[in-house]
Amino acid sequence: MAEVRYEAASRIYPGTDIAAVDSLDLEIEDGELLVLVGPSGSGKSTALRMLAGLEHVNEGSIYIDGDDVTLTPPQDRDIAMVFQNYALYPSMTVAENMGFALKQAKVPKAQRMEQVREAARILDLEEYLDRKPKNLSGGQRQRVAMGRAIVRHPKVFLMDEPLSNLDAKLRVQTRTELADLQARLGVTTVYVTHDQVEAMTMGHRVAVLNFGVLQQVDRPSVLYSHPVNRFVAGFIGSPAMNLLDADAGEDGALTLGGVAVPLEPDVTADLRERGPGRYTVGVRPEHLQLGADGIAGEVTVVEELGSEAFLHVAIQHEGESTVLVVRDHGETSTKRGDTVHVGFDGPTHVFAPDGGRVGG
Ligand SMILES: Nc1ncnc2c1ncn2[C@@H]1O[C@H](COP(=O)(O)OP(=O)(O)OP(=O)(O)O)[C@@H](O)[C@H]1O
Ligand SMILES: [Mg+2]
Repeated sequence: MAEVRYEAASRIYPGTDIAAVDSLDLEIEDGELLVLVGPSGSGKSTALRMLAGLEHVNEGSIYIDGDDVTLTPPQDRDIAMVFQNYALYPSMTVAENMGFALKQAKVPKAQRMEQVREAARILDLEEYLDRKPKNLSGGQRQRVAMGRAIVRHPKVFLMDEPLSNLDAKLRVQTRTELADLQARLGVTTVYVTHDQVEAMTMGHRVAVLNFGVLQQVDRPSVLYSHPVNRFVAGFIGSPAMNLLDADAGEDGALTLGGVAVPLEPDVTADLRERGPGRYTVGVRPEHLQLGADGIAGEVTVVEELGSEAFLHVAIQHEGESTVLVVRDHGETSTKRGDTVHVGFDGPTHVFAPDGGRVGG
């Protein structure tokens, strides 16, 4: 059990002058499952490896359980890591694979067996203990890799895209099992993924990175409803939030396709204060709806997903053709080529030229 803290921690790789992780400030609570998410190259693995002690911290500090571990070697940090390419030893049985680290640490055989059996019970692997990895399914192999981490009773679990070798269906199932397992064990866990759906479904809190810089860290619902900047707004949510540039005048009003965008009073007040300029309007597909009036457009694509459908509607905005994605119900009768009207039906977001959120 432990809390983790990054304090202005940076990693600058030799031969580069841009920080791969730039002055990261982040606290992970005891027992929390925190997900680090961001596009490829955003510094997720680097941040995790800094915590593991596998990557030198050039500036700042890292604490585990209140102890400064910035200069502590990896083996003395009491952490266990599960990687994307979890290589199991092919010639060893599941039990031997799971007990290997304990054997190396010279844990007596009886205690070793006990810890392996306990982990196997938790992971539902008891009947496979004598099998070789090649006789297991992908999901079972993944659980053995988890087992190797669990048997060590570490203070912190670190996981770097541990599910990316699994097919889509197994991944969805395994991520639920993993989240459940983490909750039962109550071990502080930092989990890296580039998949924002995985991040949102698993994380107690989610930290979004871009170009090595922490953008926002909060509960999934807050990231979704209150993205602090344009990047987070566009990154979190599938399909993505509609983001369109528009001019604001002195009165702080904004229009999309000639129709006034409904804005919270604090947004309008902030826009008036900031003054006229080019802003970005954001609205999620489920906060738009077809109706008798609204922005006129033509349906170009209908994506039917069964429980819902997403319509791509080509509209005219400031003299140019652009697309709005609108969520419709599953039994939509709307077809490609239909002329429709799109109205606002929920919150909108506004972002300033520097990308920051306007209003509260
Ligand atoms: N050993 C290295 N030497 C120099 N630069 C590196 C090294 N490892 C990573 N980088 C760079 O640091 C940045 C962050 O890399 P990192 O692997 O942390 O990204 P990531 O978010 O894990 O990406 P991915 O989703 O592709 O795994 C990238 O620009 C990468 O090119
Ligand atoms: Mg990575």
